[in-house]
Formats: sequence, structure tokens, C-alpha cells
Amino acid sequence: MSVAFITGAGSGIGRQIALTLAGRGFQIAVTDVNDSNAAETVALIEAQNGTATAFHCDVTELTSVEQAAREVKEKFGSIDVLINNAGWDKIEPFLKSEPATWERIININLMGQIHTCKTILPLMIEQGNGKVVNIASDSGRVGSSGEAVYSAAKGGVIAFTKTVAREMARHKINVNCVSPGPADTPLFKEISEYNTGIAEALTKAIPFRRLAQPEDIANAVAFLATPEADYITGQTLSVNGGLAMV
Ligand SMILES: NC(=O)c1ccc[n+]([C@@H]2O[C@H](COP(=O)([O-])OP(=O)(O)OC[C@H]3O[C@@H](n4cnc5c(N)ncnc54)[C@H](O)[C@@H]3O)[C@@H](O)[C@H]2O)c1
Repeated sequence: MSVAFITGAGSGIGRQIALTLAGRGFQIAVTDVNDSNAAETVALIEAQNGTATAFHCDVTELTSVEQAAREVKEKFGSIDVLINNAGWDKIEPFLKSEPATWERIININLMGQIHTCKTILPLMIEQGNGKVVNIASDSGRVGSSGEAVYSAAKGGVIAFTKTVAREMARHKINVNCVSPGPADTPLFKEISEYNTGIAEALTKAIPFRRLAQPEDIANAVAFLATPEADYITGQTLSVNGGLAMV
């Protein structure tokens, strides 16, 4: 059975990716900095007869990622799929934002993915195959007011993905991005508190007239995590209801 290591799997999109991959037969390493949320995700997976274990993993700390990867390898024997989902944002005009916020945004959204790739790609090379799906954001493709540093981090994720995909192709490891548009998750609710009316405005602007549900993103991730996507690498797949077409 293939093993998927998912970061930020205690909430929103990450939780749904965990449920979707479990439903497709993966064993799930539910990793998160929030242990009680990770445990809830495990309970949800077990309730649908899937296999999952929770592991503490703060993606901003390389040593925490290394420890989690060791524990997952010990428990499940391999890591076949890495889903870099952990993320965070604070919406505010760039000129009002402060260095502590920039640092947090870049550490979670960009450095986190660098830490997990540095740790887990060598295991995949040893195995002779693997799949990595990095969660970016359309803000990193087309920009988004109030999200300057987050957009920079997510643009960094997209560029990082392309180079790592080139370097990993000889090892039969695929590295791709899924780039969500606005999605109905706890993070988006937090953002909406800063910008009331944003959900209504976006719903009007999105051709499909609704925000993404976590399932919409998880289905795209699941495709890129399976052998059906063996010939796809270095790509960015936007899942945005048509809001941006790039
Ligand atoms: N919701 C949206 O509109 C939207 C749009 C585009 C991209 N995204 C991206 O999708 C991903 C998931 O977002 P979401 O909306 O489900 O958010 P969410 O807040 O619901 O979930 C994020 C998860 O990441 C975890 N996390 C935060 N910091 C962490 C750390 N240092 N180490 C490990 N885990 C950490 C949180 O505990 C949480 O479980 C993120 O990468 C986000 O940037 C979301």
C-alpha cells in the first residue's frame, strides 16, 4: 500500500486530501503542528475504514520535519507521496505589514516545502520513485491585493517545483503544483474577517459562481499523486472555478 505524507493535514484542504487519498487506498501520515486537529483527521479516516496515524510536524523547523519523516518511515516503511499543504496567510496592505508577519508567511509557505523536500526526496530516490504535490495559490500566478508576501512565497513554490521537477525526473519522481483559487476553509474564514464581503465579491467574479470546496482541490491532488500522472511533471494546475485562466 502506498504511503502519503501530508503536511497541515489537520484542517481544511489538507484534511480533505488525507480523506480522499485514504479513500483511494493510501496509508496516510497525517502531519500537522496542531496535534489535536491531526488526531481528529485520523479519527475521520478510521471512520471511513482507512489507515492513518498522526505525527507532529512543524514545517518551519527542519529538525521537526526530519523527526516526523523518521517516525513515518518506521511506522509505514516508505514515503511514496509527499503533499506539501501546510500554509498560512494574513491579509493586509503590503505597506501596513510588518517583518514578523513576512517571516512567518515565508517560513510556513515556502521554507516548509523546502524542508520537507530536502528530507523526503532522498528517501524517494532510494525507493526509485515518488510523487510530490506542492500546494501553491493562484495569488502566486496572478497576484492578489492584500497578499503581497504570501503571493511571493507561493510564486516561489511554483518556481521551486519546476527546478526540483527537472532534477528529480531521472529518479522517476514527479513534482507538480496544485494552485487553488479561493477555497471555503478555516483559513479563508480567517481572511474574510479582515475583508468582509470578500466571499460575496469573489463568488460573483468566479465563472462557476462558488468558492472551491476542499474536495475540488483534493481531487486534483489525488490525480497528480497516482500513476495516472506518471508523465506529468513541473506543472501547475489551477483549481479556481475559472477565476484566472493562465
Ligand atoms: N483557502 C484558500 O482560499 C486557499 C487558496 C489558495 C491556496 N491555499 C493553500 O491551501 C493550503 C491549505 O490551506 P487551508 O485553506 O486548508 O488552511 P487551513 O488553515 O484550514 O489549514 C492549514 C493547516 O496548516 C497547518 N499549519 C500551519 N502552520 C504549520 C506549520 N508551521 N507546520 C505544519 N502545519 C502547519 C495548520 O495547523 C492547519 O492544519 C495552504 O497551503 C494555503 O496556502 C488556500
